[in-house]
Amino acid sequence: RKKVTIQTLQTLYKKGEPITMITAHDFPSGHVADVSGMDVILVGDSLGMVAMGLDNTSEVIMEEMLLHCRSVARATKSAFTIADLPMGSYEISPDQAMESAIRLVKEGRVQGVKIEGGEEIAPTIKRITQAGLPVVGHVGLTPQRQNSLGGFRVQGKTAKGALKLLHDAIAMQEAGAFMLVLEAMPPEVATIITQKLRIPTVGIGAGNGCSGQVLVQVDMTGYFQPGRFVPKFVKQFADVWGEASRGIVQYREEVKSRAFPSQEHTYPISQEELAKLEK
Ligand code: KIV
Ligand code: NA
Repeated sequence: RKKVTIQTLQTLYKKGEPITMITAHDFPSGHVADVSGMDVILVGDSLGMVAMGLDNTSEVIMEEMLLHCRSVARATKSAFTIADLPMGSYEISPDQAMESAIRLVKEGRVQGVKIEGGEEIAPTIKRITQAGLPVVGHVGLTPQRQNSLGGFRVQGKTAKGALKLLHDAIAMQEAGAFMLVLEAMPPEVATIITQKLRIPTVGIGAGNGCSGQVLVQVDMTGYFQPGRFVPKFVKQFADVWGEASRGIVQYREEVKSRAFPSQEHTYPISQEELAKLEK
């Protein structure tokens, strides 16, 4: 498969063909997403929750992002790969954000960065895009701001709230963002935003009217303990936890019963050498 570039994504958008995006957080999750034909792979700061066992994304630091980015980047041969600017790495000034974006691209080896926010982050997006680094904006439910949003809550449920989201989206587009993630808002609102923009939108919990969709890989592959909370917008397409658990339980039983390892999983020694050994 050919390398997905920003032009490829532009072409998909122009043709009205949905852009497919998924998160990855290490080499295997990046590899399987890449060979399965994803257009975009996001090293999201959700890795704090799905790969590090944190309760939210806010504790994730730059060094952790870089470590995960490098692992994913080694696996992504075709997908356009982007990474989140983690909380604390971009809010102080456009210069701070620029420095962090450069680190993600140079040390993390991704092709672009994603920034949560709205109109207030536009000068920062402008700074980074003018330096030639592609930026994806993220509006709606922005998990890094969960404390001021009052938790992981659906956004744009009032006309006023929806207009604010539209305003934020347009500001990010005008600042140079090449794509926007729209998270957790009514589908009608995401559709209106998408129609008003001239850059693609990728929805998560934002309905079917976006230019593409994104999900967190461990959520959609079901690689989590049954009963763990998952948002309403997650469709579980596989049962990776169930499959891994079945295998591990069987392994345990076969070790306990000495059914494993059998002959086929061992290395032979010749009768001649064995006779010498036994003398
Ligand atoms: O961190 C993440 O996984 C994200 C996606 C949910 C868009 O930001
Ligand atoms: Na994120």
